[in-house]
Amino acid sequence: MRSVVVLISGRGSNLQALLDAGLPVSAVISNLPGAAGLAIAAKHGVPSRVVSHKDFASREAFDDALAKEIDRYSPRLVALAGFMRVLTPGFVQRYRDRMLNIHPSLLPAFPGLNTHQRALAEGVKLHGCSVHFVTADLDHGPIVAQAAIPVRREDTAASLALRVLKQEHVIYPRAVRWFLDGKLVIESGTVSVKGNDAQLVFDDSP
Ligand code: GRF
Repeated sequence: MRSVVVLISGRGSNLQALLDAGLPVSAVISNLPGAAGLAIAAKHGVPSRVVSHKDFASREAFDDALAKEIDRYSPRLVALAGFMRVLTPGFVQRYRDRMLNIHPSLLPAFPGLNTHQRALAEGVKLHGCSVHFVTADLDHGPIVAQAAIPVRREDTAASLALRVLKQEHVIYPRAVRWFLDGKLVIESGTVSVKGNDAQLVFDDSP
């Protein structure tokens, strides 16, 4: 059974990582017609759709249309992979405890955009990425997995982005697999993995 619907807005490298891991992606939905990730879906024979936010007068109307498309596939999980729209509380509630996001920072530090520049500006020595369940609070929600990398003196936002992205491609497929295998337990806002404690990856490689 194909059971993950992936929402994208752009490049689609996390989508690619999910597909490369052999995860059962039943559809890809983009809010932007030109998203490069749509070609990745096509290459893998995965159906894709565009629901353009520009066609709707309000966030609620867009989210309703999006939910309708998602529900055509009756997915077990909705995976946000570079989906650049803020979702309404109603939409978040509908997929509560079955919607994941990948974010390029060690949450709760640096929610929002430009995370690599902000990490450099703050002089943090550790940076990374997080997979978390989506709640109505932007880029917050129970954390499923994190990967950390050291910030080096010579790092730029671009070099950080590259090393963090490599780790996104490690932890996102892993987290989605855990979810589909029924291994994730959310308790008092924190997530544990049944029979597994590898929720943290540390990558020190250049
Ligand atoms: C990633 O850095 C992800 O963490 C963020 O948006 C970017 C999407 O990249 N949410 P891609 O489209 O998966 O290549």
